[in-house]
Amino acid sequence: MTEIVSDDIKVRLPHTLTHFGIKGELGEVFEGPLAYDVQFKLAEGSKFSYLEGLIKDIARELGVSGIRVTQIPNSVYISFEIPLPQAKTVPFAPITYSAEFVRATYALPICVGVNMHGEPVMKDLSKMPHLLVAGTTGSGKSVGLNSFILSLINKKKPEELKFVLIDPKRIEFSMYNNQKYMLRPVITDMNSACASLTQLAGEMEERYSVFEKEMVRNIGEYHKKGGKMPYIVCVIDEFADLIMFDKTVEKQVQILAQKSRAAGIHLIIATQRPSVDVITGTIKANLPTRLSYKVSSPADSMTILNTSGAEDLLGRGDSLLLEENGTLTRILGAYVSDDDIMNTLEPYRCKMEDKKTYDVILKEKKEEQKVVLSQKMQEAEQKKAEQKKGVFAKIWDFWCRLGKRNQNRIINMVMGFVLSMFGAKSTTGSTTRNLRNAVQKTAQKMSKKR
Ligand SMILES: Nc1ncnc2c1ncn2[C@@H]1O[C@H](COP(=O)(O)OP(=O)(O)OP(=O)(O)O)[C@@H](O)[C@H]1O
Ligand SMILES: [Mg+2]
Repeated sequence: MTEIVSDDIKVRLPHTLTHFGIKGELGEVFEGPLAYDVQFKLAEGSKFSYLEGLIKDIARELGVSGIRVTQIPNSVYISFEIPLPQAKTVPFAPITYSAEFVRATYALPICVGVNMHGEPVMKDLSKMPHLLVAGTTGSGKSVGLNSFILSLINKKKPEELKFVLIDPKRIEFSMYNNQKYMLRPVITDMNSACASLTQLAGEMEERYSVFEKEMVRNIGEYHKKGGKMPYIVCVIDEFADLIMFDKTVEKQVQILAQKSRAAGIHLIIATQRPSVDVITGTIKANLPTRLSYKVSSPADSMTILNTSGAEDLLGRGDSLLLEENGTLTRILGAYVSDDDIMNTLEPYRCKMEDKKTYDVILKEKKEEQKVVLSQKMQEAEQKKAEQKKGVFAKIWDFWCRLGKRNQNRIINMVMGFVLSMFGAKSTTGSTTRNLRNAVQKTAQKMSKKR
């Protein structure tokens, strides 16, 4: 590959373009970590689509591969992204000190990487509200997922955020075990993975019941009212394995993706196989924000981004982010080393005694749930028994609840009424008193029996 330096580009690109009959004016040239960003203003009347069709020939003439040309939104300039001879690695740790990272006060801030000018790109996962990640093997998915997890850990406390990490490959997330951030240990087996998605759906429903009682619409409003409830981020590294194991996973993901945003539960799903049997129409419809690393064919790029282009990415974290509003941004993922993970996690590693308390808390929660369940069952049984009771029993219950004084009054009234019908004297007469005593005694006997 011919080495291109930016001064050289300023001369060679316009020259090559004129060869192909494309006229225009050179704008600014930036050198990013991955590529030069050469801005160019096409001469009036020139067609962008014509230039797009020629881009492979222009790349060949410049002696580089993987040139990308895009229109800059709200600008008369277009941008040529011409790869550097050697892409630079952007380490994750320094990004955490950048102004963009420090100032990001979103609910769930994640650093997706750096843009073509090397500036950190921060996004709010809670707004996405879920993220679908695709890319061929070795393209940088796992490194990317680790950078998202570490961004969140850097910005949120363990009591504000919990993770459910599903790792069918068993090797990617093992370092996160025994962390205070983990809702449960890293899940590596498929049955448990499916069960954990069902549990998340249950947790979501429980959260909605809490919101209903508190009369709030979402987790943000609940927090404003002083309620404490952690966000939950579920990360799946290799979704294809999961959906191939159990097709019902698609339905579970659909349920979660549709409803879990307000409940503060968010999904990050990655796959090596962005084919239509893995990223189905349902999944696509429910996960509008997508990040594609290098894929193997334009068809795969179409599946994930609805456009080709991801097949020409350079690998090693080079990616395209498709946002809900349809904008496509090229981003270079930050490189996360094992040391970065260990250093970030060390303060939050559960010590033996923490682990105990964590286990105890889980146990207590389970016990609590059992008690609530048995109470509910008892209540339901009581209700059933009440419904079964006859009219007489209900009247008798009512009678017992009246108390002696009220019972006497009613007996006097009834007796008075009966006697007056036969022309006898009311309540004061001896017959009345005898009768009243007899009724009272019977009533007492019956209540003792009960
Ligand atoms: N952002 C990056 N910067 C520099 N190098 C990177 C970056 N991302 C990935 N790499 C390099 O690419 C290698 C593979 O990355 P990663 O393990 O994330 O790929 P993957 O897409 O998860 O692959 P697989 O599908 O096989 O799991 C890494 O070991 C690293 O050397
Ligand atoms: Mg991986």
